Amino acid sequence: MKKRLLSVLLSTTMIAAVLAGCGSTASSSSQDTTTPAEETPADDGATDTTTGDDANAETDTNAGTDTAAADGTADAATGVEGLDIGVCIYNFADNFMTLYRTELERYLTAGGASVTITDGKNDQAEQTNQIQNFITEGVDVLIVNLVQSSAAEQITDQCAAANIPVVFINREPDDAEKERWTTEGIKATYVGADARQSGTFQGEILLATPNKGDINGDGKVSYVMVQGDPENVDAQYRTEFSIKALTDGGMTVEELDKQRGDWDQARGQEIVANALTNQGDAVEVVFCNNDAMALGALQAIETAGRVVGEDIYLLGVDALTEALQNVIDGKMTGTVFNDHFGQSHAAAQAAADFAAGKDLETLIGVDYIKVTQENAQEILDLVQ
Ligand code: GAL
Repeated sequence: MKKRLLSVLLSTTMIAAVLAGCGSTASSSSQDTTTPAEETPADDGATDTTTGDDANAETDTNAGTDTAAADGTADAATGVEGLDIGVCIYNFADNFMTLYRTELERYLTAGGASVTITDGKNDQAEQTNQIQNFITEGVDVLIVNLVQSSAAEQITDQCAAANIPVVFINREPDDAEKERWTTEGIKATYVGADARQSGTFQGEILLATPNKGDINGDGKVSYVMVQGDPENVDAQYRTEFSIKALTDGGMTVEELDKQRGDWDQARGQEIVANALTNQGDAVEVVFCNNDAMALGALQAIETAGRVVGEDIYLLGVDALTEALQNVIDGKMTGTVFNDHFGQSHAAAQAAADFAAGKDLETLIGVDYIKVTQENAQEILDLVQ
């Protein structure tokens, strides 16, 4: 059931067709239950190693609808059997990246890869060391969620010098760097979603409300913006494109406050509590660059006695389980599904393709999905 839903939702949204290679049977593994991890504390250990053990996995009955190339619905990665894969995550404490790495590890391991995952603890120097260790060990491929996107050039060069392909995820290196990979023939790619789309979707969700966000009817949408880490292109684009969608939709906007919340729930709560104290009823909309901060914002909104959907709107991105439940209950206006299944599967496929000696595009894209009360239950069934 869940798998069928995945097929329908993801087949319409994945744009990872740039990947080469296709059509083999997907299999279901003995460990294919993904635990949504946002309520679970992140691991403390900096390193986690698992090895694929399900060579005897049953054949999946829905396999006919699956394709091997970056398939968001497949249960196991293909082409990774026997590969030694190093995965560097920027921070195990990040809710969304915990979902992402859990699925990435499960999917690669189910495909027979040996996977070691490290926690960069939000420290680029620490992550750079971890990458150097992987290079010394001689892993076949690296999958890297940079702490700082600006470190891409240095990391790429280190990997290229050791002849190890690198698949960047979640934090996108800039265009000049990606172009360099092509001109210099470097085996590097970026797999991710286009954050402009998630911002646009947030704005569109607001435009679809009866008053288009202008609750008090004064002719403008007065909002508070809670940003992620502003070094991150996801934070920059979500901030810009949510508002652009409103102005493109003919609305006048007023920014009451904009603060960096670094993707963190407690920071989201603090920022929105302050904004509501300082700006009171003037605040009509709270945009959060992610759901963790939106969950914090909701705590502040409720403490202030405000009611989402009545006197304030609240938007996030990611589709964390708790946020989806809030959308269903009307406590959040909407969110945007940051498809960690599609992204982790496309990253695994890119690793397999590089290891097989293929050349890849420098950008492999996966779509977001807009989530409102209409489809939140469907997305919840999918992620649970
Ligand atoms: C974003 C996600 C955030 C955070 C961030 C880390 O795509 O929406 O919740 O995980 O990535 O880079």
